[in-house]
Amino acid sequence: VGGGTSDIDPFKLLDLSDLTDNIKRLLGSGHPSLDNVSNYYFLSEGKRIRPLIVLLMSQATSIAPKQHNPAPIDHSPIINEPLSPLISSFEAQNYNDTTSSSSSSKHSPTGKILPTQRRLAEITEIIHTASLLHDDVIDESETRRNKPSVNINFGNKMSILAGDFLLARASVALARLRNPEVIELIATVIANLVEGEFMQLKNIQTSKKTTSDTTMTPFEYYMEKTYMKTASLIAKSCCGASVLGGSTREISEIAYTYGKNIGLAFQLIDDMLDFVVSAKELGKPVGADLKLGLATAPVLYAWEKYSELGPLIKRKFSQQGDVEKARELVYQSNGIEQTKLLAVSHCQKAIDAILKLPESDARDALIQLSDKENESLS
Ligand code: FPP
Ligand code: MG
Ligand code: MG
Repeated sequence: VGGGTSDIDPFKLLDLSDLTDNIKRLLGSGHPSLDNVSNYYFLSEGKRIRPLIVLLMSQATSIAPKQHNPAPIDHSPIINEPLSPLISSFEAQNYNDTTSSSSSSKHSPTGKILPTQRRLAEITEIIHTASLLHDDVIDESETRRNKPSVNINFGNKMSILAGDFLLARASVALARLRNPEVIELIATVIANLVEGEFMQLKNIQTSKKTTSDTTMTPFEYYMEKTYMKTASLIAKSCCGASVLGGSTREISEIAYTYGKNIGLAFQLIDDMLDFVVSAKELGKPVGADLKLGLATAPVLYAWEKYSELGPLIKRKFSQQGDVEKARELVYQSNGIEQTKLLAVSHCQKAIDAILKLPESDARDALIQLSDKENESLS
Protein backbone atom coordinates (compact mmCIF):
# COMPACT_ATOMS: atom_id res chain seq x y z
CA VAL A 1 0.00 0.00 0.00
CA GLY A 2 1.02 3.59 -0.53
CA GLY A 3 4.30 3.31 -2.39
CA GLY A 4 6.81 3.23 0.48
CA THR A 5 10.27 1.83 -0.14
CA SER A 6 10.18 -1.59 1.44
CA ASP A 7 13.90 -1.81 2.30
CA ILE A 8 13.69 0.84 5.03
CA ASP A 9 13.37 -0.46 8.58
CA PRO A 10 11.87 2.40 10.60
CA PHE A 11 13.34 0.92 13.79
CA LYS A 12 16.88 1.03 12.37
CA LEU A 13 16.80 4.44 10.70
CA LEU A 14 17.24 6.30 13.97
CA ASP A 15 19.41 5.74 17.01
CA LEU A 16 17.15 5.70 20.06
CA SER A 17 19.94 4.70 22.46
CA ASP A 18 20.06 8.14 24.12
CA LEU A 19 16.34 8.27 24.67
CA THR A 20 16.09 6.18 27.84
CA ASP A 21 19.20 7.77 29.39
CA ASN A 22 17.81 11.24 28.73
CA ILE A 23 14.45 10.26 30.18
CA LYS A 24 16.12 8.89 33.31
CA ARG A 25 17.96 12.19 33.75
CA LEU A 26 14.72 14.12 33.35
CA LEU A 27 13.17 11.97 36.07
CA GLY A 28 16.00 12.00 38.65
CA SER A 29 14.42 13.01 41.96
CA GLY A 30 16.90 12.41 44.76
CA HIS A 31 14.34 10.07 46.40
CA PRO A 32 15.47 6.47 45.74
CA SER A 33 12.03 4.93 46.23
CA LEU A 34 10.34 7.48 43.96
CA ASP A 35 13.09 6.86 41.39
CA ASN A 36 12.42 3.11 41.59
CA VAL A 37 8.72 3.44 40.82
CA SER A 38 9.14 6.21 38.23
CA ASN A 39 11.79 4.27 36.32
CA TYR A 40 10.04 0.89 36.57
CA TYR A 41 8.46 0.85 33.10
CA PHE A 42 11.54 2.41 31.50
CA LEU A 43 13.64 -0.59 32.69
CA SER A 44 11.64 -2.97 30.49
CA GLU A 45 11.87 -0.86 27.38
CA GLY A 46 8.69 -1.00 25.38
CA LYS A 47 8.47 -0.54 21.64
CA ARG A 48 9.19 3.20 21.97
CA ILE A 49 6.99 3.66 18.94
CA ARG A 50 5.81 7.15 19.96
CA PRO A 51 9.26 8.73 20.23
CA LEU A 52 10.29 6.97 17.02
CA ILE A 53 7.34 8.54 15.19
CA VAL A 54 8.07 11.99 16.66
CA LEU A 55 11.72 11.81 15.58
CA LEU A 56 10.89 10.53 12.09
CA MET A 57 8.26 13.26 11.73
CA SER A 58 10.86 15.84 12.80
CA GLN A 59 13.14 14.63 10.03
CA ALA A 60 10.41 14.27 7.44
CA THR A 61 9.07 17.80 8.02
CA SER A 62 12.53 19.37 8.20
CA ILE A 63 12.71 19.53 4.40
CA ALA A 64 9.11 20.69 3.98
CA PRO A 65 8.06 24.37 3.59
CA LYS A 66 8.85 26.64 6.56
CA GLN A 67 7.11 29.66 7.99
CA HIS A 68 8.73 32.87 6.76
CA ASN A 69 8.65 34.60 10.13
CA PRO A 70 8.70 31.96 12.83
CA ALA A 71 8.13 33.34 16.32
CA PRO A 72 11.48 33.73 18.08
CA ILE A 73 12.03 31.05 20.68
CA ASP A 74 13.64 32.13 23.94
CA HIS A 75 15.80 29.34 25.26
CA SER A 76 17.01 31.11 28.37
CA PRO A 77 15.72 29.66 31.63
CA ILE A 78 13.07 31.73 33.42
CA ILE A 79 13.79 30.42 36.89
CA ASN A 80 17.29 30.06 38.28
CA GLU A 81 16.32 27.50 40.86
CA PRO A 82 15.54 24.31 39.00
CA LEU A 83 13.77 21.39 40.67
CA SER A 84 16.65 19.07 40.04
CA PRO A 85 20.31 19.88 39.49
CA LEU A 86 20.40 16.93 37.12
CA ILE A 87 17.87 18.60 34.83
CA SER A 88 19.51 22.00 34.82
CA SER A 89 22.97 20.77 33.86
CA PHE A 90 21.46 18.49 31.27
CA GLU A 91 19.29 21.21 29.75
CA ALA A 92 22.24 23.55 29.41
CA GLN A 93 24.32 20.90 27.73
CA ASN A 94 21.53 19.80 25.43
CA TYR A 95 20.22 23.12 24.18
CA ASN A 96 23.68 24.56 23.64
CA ASP A 97 24.60 21.56 21.55
CA THR A 98 24.62 22.93 18.03
CA THR A 99 26.23 19.92 16.39
CA SER A 100 22.88 18.46 15.40
CA SER A 101 21.21 21.70 14.35
CA SER A 102 21.94 25.12 12.98
CA SER A 103 22.51 27.68 15.74
CA SER A 104 21.68 30.67 13.57
CA SER A 105 18.37 29.36 12.33
CA LYS A 106 15.23 28.10 14.07
CA HIS A 107 14.87 25.65 11.17
CA SER A 108 16.33 22.19 11.13
CA PRO A 109 18.67 21.53 8.24
CA THR A 110 17.74 18.79 5.82
CA GLY A 111 17.03 15.53 7.59
CA LYS A 112 18.33 16.81 10.92
CA ILE A 113 16.53 16.72 14.23
CA LEU A 114 16.57 19.73 16.56
CA PRO A 115 17.39 19.23 20.27
CA THR A 116 13.90 20.57 21.08
CA GLN A 117 12.36 17.91 18.86
CA ARG A 118 14.39 15.20 20.62
CA ARG A 119 13.16 16.56 23.91
CA LEU A 120 9.58 16.45 22.65
CA ALA A 121 10.05 12.75 21.77
CA GLU A 122 11.20 12.14 25.37
CA ILE A 123 8.28 14.14 26.80
CA THR A 124 5.85 12.09 24.70
CA GLU A 125 7.25 8.82 26.02
CA ILE A 126 7.13 10.11 29.62
CA ILE A 127 3.48 11.16 29.28
CA HIS A 128 2.62 7.80 27.71
CA THR A 129 4.34 5.99 30.59
CA ALA A 130 2.56 8.20 33.16
CA SER A 131 -0.74 7.16 31.60
CA LEU A 132 0.28 3.48 31.91
CA LEU A 133 1.12 3.93 35.62
CA HIS A 134 -2.40 5.30 36.17
CA ASP A 135 -4.02 2.88 33.75
CA ASP A 136 -2.69 -0.22 35.50
CA VAL A 137 -4.21 0.99 38.78
CA ILE A 138 -7.58 1.74 37.14
CA ASP A 139 -7.59 -1.59 35.26
CA GLU A 140 -6.22 -3.53 38.28
CA SER A 141 -3.69 -5.04 35.88
CA GLU A 142 -1.39 -7.81 36.97
CA THR A 143 1.21 -7.87 34.21
CA ARG A 144 2.70 -5.55 31.61
CA ARG A 145 5.53 -6.41 29.22
CA ASN A 146 5.64 -9.91 30.72
CA LYS A 147 6.47 -8.55 34.18
CA PRO A 148 4.34 -7.80 37.23
CA SER A 149 2.68 -4.44 36.63
CA VAL A 150 3.66 -1.42 38.69
CA ASN A 151 0.63 -1.60 40.98
CA ILE A 152 1.43 -5.22 41.84
CA ASN A 153 5.06 -4.40 42.63
CA PHE A 154 4.65 -1.07 44.42
CA GLY A 155 0.95 -0.72 45.24
CA ASN A 156 -1.68 1.73 44.00
CA LYS A 157 -0.60 4.75 46.02
CA MET A 158 2.97 4.78 44.79
CA SER A 159 1.89 4.02 41.21
CA ILE A 160 -0.47 7.01 41.12
CA LEU A 161 2.05 9.34 42.73
CA ALA A 162 4.80 8.20 40.37
CA GLY A 163 2.46 8.80 37.41
CA ASP A 164 1.80 12.32 38.72
CA PHE A 165 5.53 12.85 39.13
CA LEU A 166 6.19 11.80 35.54
CA LEU A 167 3.52 14.24 34.35
CA ALA A 168 5.04 17.01 36.42
CA ARG A 169 8.53 16.42 35.06
CA ALA A 170 7.17 16.18 31.52
CA SER A 171 5.48 19.53 32.12
CA VAL A 172 8.72 21.13 33.30
CA ALA A 173 10.56 19.86 30.24
CA LEU A 174 7.68 21.02 28.04
CA ALA A 175 7.74 24.52 29.50
CA ARG A 176 11.46 24.64 28.81
CA LEU A 177 10.83 24.21 25.11
CA ARG A 178 9.70 27.87 25.34
CA ASN A 179 7.15 27.38 22.61
CA PRO A 180 3.61 28.35 23.70
CA GLU A 181 1.92 26.56 20.80
CA VAL A 182 3.63 23.27 21.59
CA ILE A 183 2.98 23.70 25.33
CA GLU A 184 -0.71 24.19 24.55
CA LEU A 185 -0.81 21.17 22.23
CA ILE A 186 0.78 18.80 24.72
CA ALA A 187 -1.10 20.17 27.75
CA THR A 188 -4.30 19.48 25.81
CA VAL A 189 -3.13 15.89 25.28
CA ILE A 190 -2.95 15.35 29.05
CA ALA A 191 -6.55 16.56 29.36
CA ASN A 192 -7.55 14.33 26.43
CA LEU A 193 -6.05 11.26 28.13
CA VAL A 194 -8.21 11.86 31.18
CA GLU A 195 -11.28 12.63 29.02
CA GLY A 196 -10.76 9.38 27.09
CA GLU A 197 -10.46 7.40 30.29
CA PHE A 198 -13.63 9.01 31.65
CA MET A 199 -15.51 8.23 28.43
CA GLN A 200 -14.36 4.65 28.86
CA LEU A 201 -15.52 4.49 32.50
CA LYS A 202 -18.94 5.71 31.43
CA ASN A 203 -18.91 3.48 28.35
CA ILE A 204 -21.98 4.19 26.22
CA GLN A 205 -24.49 4.38 29.00
CA THR A 206 -24.37 8.14 29.23
CA SER A 207 -24.49 9.10 25.59
CA LYS A 208 -22.56 12.24 24.83
CA LYS A 209 -24.09 14.94 22.63
CA THR A 210 -22.31 15.95 19.45
CA THR A 211 -21.86 19.61 18.55
CA SER A 212 -24.99 19.44 16.40
CA ASP A 213 -26.82 18.20 19.52
CA THR A 214 -27.55 14.79 18.10
CA THR A 215 -26.73 11.77 20.21
CA MET A 216 -23.58 9.92 19.20
CA THR A 217 -23.92 6.34 18.09
CA PRO A 218 -22.08 3.85 20.31
CA PHE A 219 -19.47 3.41 17.59
CA GLU A 220 -18.92 7.17 17.22
CA TYR A 221 -18.55 7.37 21.00
CA TYR A 222 -16.01 4.51 20.92
CA MET A 223 -13.99 6.22 18.15
CA GLU A 224 -13.94 9.54 19.99
CA LYS A 225 -12.83 7.76 23.15
CA THR A 226 -10.12 6.03 21.10
CA TYR A 227 -8.93 9.36 19.76
CA MET A 228 -8.81 10.82 23.27
CA LYS A 229 -7.05 7.93 24.99
CA THR A 230 -4.54 7.01 22.26
CA ALA A 231 -4.52 9.02 19.04
CA SER A 232 -4.41 12.51 20.54
CA LEU A 233 -0.94 11.97 22.06
CA ILE A 234 0.57 10.75 18.79
CA ALA A 235 -1.27 13.33 16.64
CA LYS A 236 -0.38 16.34 18.75
CA SER A 237 3.21 15.19 19.31
CA CYS A 238 3.65 14.84 15.53
CA CYS A 239 2.12 18.29 15.08
CA GLY A 240 4.36 19.68 17.87
CA ALA A 241 7.49 18.27 16.19
CA SER A 242 6.51 20.06 12.99
CA VAL A 243 5.79 23.33 14.84
CA LEU A 244 9.17 23.16 16.62
CA GLY A 245 10.85 22.80 13.24
CA GLY A 246 9.18 26.02 12.05
CA SER A 247 7.00 24.29 9.43
CA THR A 248 4.01 25.99 7.85
CA ARG A 249 0.57 25.37 9.33
CA GLU A 250 -0.29 23.20 6.33
CA ILE A 251 2.67 20.90 7.03
CA SER A 252 1.84 20.73 10.75
CA GLU A 253 -1.70 19.69 9.83
CA ILE A 254 -0.32 16.89 7.64
CA ALA A 255 1.79 15.74 10.60
CA TYR A 256 -1.31 15.86 12.82
CA THR A 257 -3.43 13.86 10.34
CA TYR A 258 -0.74 11.18 10.05
CA GLY A 259 -0.42 10.87 13.85
CA LYS A 260 -4.16 10.82 14.41
CA ASN A 261 -4.81 8.04 11.92
CA ILE A 262 -1.90 5.86 12.90
CA GLY A 263 -2.92 6.33 16.55
CA LEU A 264 -6.50 5.26 15.82
CA ALA A 265 -5.17 2.23 13.89
CA PHE A 266 -2.86 1.24 16.78
CA GLN A 267 -5.69 1.25 19.30
CA LEU A 268 -8.07 -0.63 16.97
CA ILE A 269 -5.38 -3.28 16.55
CA ASP A 270 -4.78 -3.37 20.31
CA ASP A 271 -8.50 -3.86 20.90
CA MET A 272 -8.59 -6.59 18.26
CA LEU A 273 -5.53 -8.41 19.67
CA ASP A 274 -7.32 -8.68 23.00
CA PHE A 275 -9.53 -11.26 21.24
CA VAL A 276 -7.00 -13.10 19.11
CA VAL A 277 -3.55 -13.58 20.63
CA SER A 278 -2.15 -15.36 23.65
CA ALA A 279 -1.18 -13.63 26.90
CA LYS A 280 2.47 -14.60 26.32
CA GLU A 281 2.57 -12.93 22.91
CA LEU A 282 0.91 -9.79 24.25
CA GLY A 283 2.92 -9.56 27.49
CA LYS A 284 -0.28 -8.74 29.37
CA PRO A 285 -3.51 -10.63 30.10
CA VAL A 286 -5.84 -11.21 27.13
CA GLY A 287 -9.58 -10.96 27.15
CA ALA A 288 -9.11 -8.15 29.64
CA ASP A 289 -11.48 -5.66 28.00
CA LEU A 290 -14.67 -7.70 28.38
CA LYS A 291 -13.75 -8.49 31.98
CA LEU A 292 -13.32 -4.75 32.55
CA GLY A 293 -16.79 -4.21 31.13
CA LEU A 294 -15.50 -2.60 27.94
CA ALA A 295 -17.21 -3.00 24.59
CA THR A 296 -14.51 -2.35 21.97
CA ALA A 297 -14.81 -2.41 18.17
CA PRO A 298 -15.08 -6.22 17.72
CA VAL A 299 -18.01 -6.33 20.17
CA LEU A 300 -19.71 -3.24 18.72
CA TYR A 301 -19.52 -4.77 15.24
CA ALA A 302 -20.82 -8.12 16.56
CA TRP A 303 -23.73 -6.22 18.18
CA GLU A 304 -24.84 -5.13 14.67
CA LYS A 305 -25.39 -8.80 13.83
CA TYR A 306 -26.47 -10.11 17.24
CA SER A 307 -28.85 -7.67 18.88
CA GLU A 308 -28.89 -9.81 22.03
CA LEU A 309 -25.46 -8.36 22.83
CA GLY A 310 -27.15 -5.00 23.64
CA PRO A 311 -28.23 -5.80 27.21
CA LEU A 312 -24.84 -7.42 27.98
CA ILE A 313 -23.00 -4.33 26.76
CA LYS A 314 -25.27 -2.04 28.77
CA ARG A 315 -24.69 -4.00 31.99
CA LYS A 316 -20.96 -4.12 31.21
CA PHE A 317 -20.86 -7.93 31.05
CA SER A 318 -21.46 -8.00 34.80
CA GLN A 319 -23.64 -11.09 35.05
CA GLN A 320 -22.24 -14.59 35.21
CA GLY A 321 -21.57 -15.98 31.72
CA ASP A 322 -21.78 -12.53 30.02
CA VAL A 323 -18.07 -12.39 29.17
CA GLU A 324 -18.07 -15.89 27.67
CA LYS A 325 -21.28 -15.27 25.71
CA ALA A 326 -20.01 -11.96 24.30
CA ARG A 327 -16.72 -13.54 23.31
CA GLU A 328 -18.52 -16.37 21.55
CA LEU A 329 -20.74 -13.96 19.60
CA VAL A 330 -17.70 -11.92 18.56
CA TYR A 331 -16.10 -15.08 17.13
CA GLN A 332 -19.36 -16.02 15.36
CA SER A 333 -19.69 -12.56 13.82
CA ASN A 334 -17.17 -10.90 11.53
CA GLY A 335 -16.39 -8.24 14.18
CA ILE A 336 -12.70 -9.08 14.24
CA GLU A 337 -12.37 -8.79 10.42
CA GLN A 338 -14.33 -5.53 10.38
CA THR A 339 -12.07 -4.11 13.08
CA LYS A 340 -9.05 -5.07 10.95
CA LEU A 341 -10.57 -3.36 7.92
CA LEU A 342 -11.22 -0.18 9.86
CA ALA A 343 -7.61 -0.20 11.15
CA VAL A 344 -6.34 -0.70 7.59
CA SER A 345 -8.44 2.24 6.38
CA HIS A 346 -6.89 4.49 9.04
CA CYS A 347 -3.39 3.26 8.08
CA GLN A 348 -4.23 4.25 4.50
CA LYS A 349 -5.38 7.71 5.61
CA ALA A 350 -2.07 8.12 7.48
CA ILE A 351 -0.17 7.13 4.32
CA ASP A 352 -2.23 9.48 2.13
CA ALA A 353 -1.37 12.36 4.47
CA ILE A 354 2.36 11.68 4.75
CA LEU A 355 2.73 11.26 0.98
CA LYS A 356 2.07 15.01 0.75
CA LEU A 357 5.51 15.64 2.32
CA PRO A 358 8.63 15.79 0.15
CA GLU A 359 10.27 12.43 -0.42
CA SER A 360 12.81 11.39 2.22
CA ASP A 361 13.99 8.27 4.07
CA ALA A 362 12.14 9.48 7.16
CA ARG A 363 8.91 9.89 5.20
CA ASP A 364 9.31 6.40 3.76
CA ALA A 365 9.94 5.00 7.24
CA LEU A 366 6.67 6.59 8.41
CA ILE A 367 4.92 4.97 5.44
CA GLN A 368 6.60 1.67 6.36
CA LEU A 369 5.23 1.90 9.91
CA SER A 370 1.71 2.15 8.50
CA ASP A 371 2.42 -0.54 5.90
CA LYS A 372 3.76 -2.86 8.61
CA GLU A 373 0.50 -2.44 10.48
CA ASN A 374 -1.35 -3.21 7.25
CA GLU A 375 0.73 -6.31 6.58
CA SER A 376 0.35 -7.70 10.08
CA LEU A 377 -3.38 -7.28 9.66
CA SER A 378 -3.79 -8.96 6.31
C1 FPP B 1 -3.87 2.07 28.00
O1 FPP B 1 -5.09 1.55 27.52
C2 FPP B 1 -4.10 3.42 28.56
C3 FPP B 1 -4.20 4.57 27.87
C4 FPP B 1 -4.01 4.59 26.41
C5 FPP B 1 -4.47 5.90 28.51
C6 FPP B 1 -4.80 5.84 30.00
C7 FPP B 1 -5.13 7.19 30.53
C8 FPP B 1 -5.36 7.43 31.80
C9 FPP B 1 -5.31 6.36 32.84
C10 FPP B 1 -5.77 8.83 32.20
C11 FPP B 1 -4.80 9.43 33.16
C12 FPP B 1 -3.49 9.67 32.50
C13 FPP B 1 -2.72 10.73 32.70
C14 FPP B 1 -1.45 10.87 31.95
C15 FPP B 1 -3.13 11.82 33.63
P1 FPP B 1 -5.57 0.07 27.81
O2 FPP B 1 -5.91 -0.10 29.25
O3 FPP B 1 -6.65 -0.19 26.84
O4 FPP B 1 -4.30 -0.75 27.36
P2 FPP B 1 -3.41 -1.83 28.13
O5 FPP B 1 -3.99 -3.13 27.70
O6 FPP B 1 -2.02 -1.62 27.59
O7 FPP B 1 -3.51 -1.63 29.60
MG1 MG C 1 -5.03 -1.19 30.79
MG1 MG D 1 -7.23 1.00 30.43
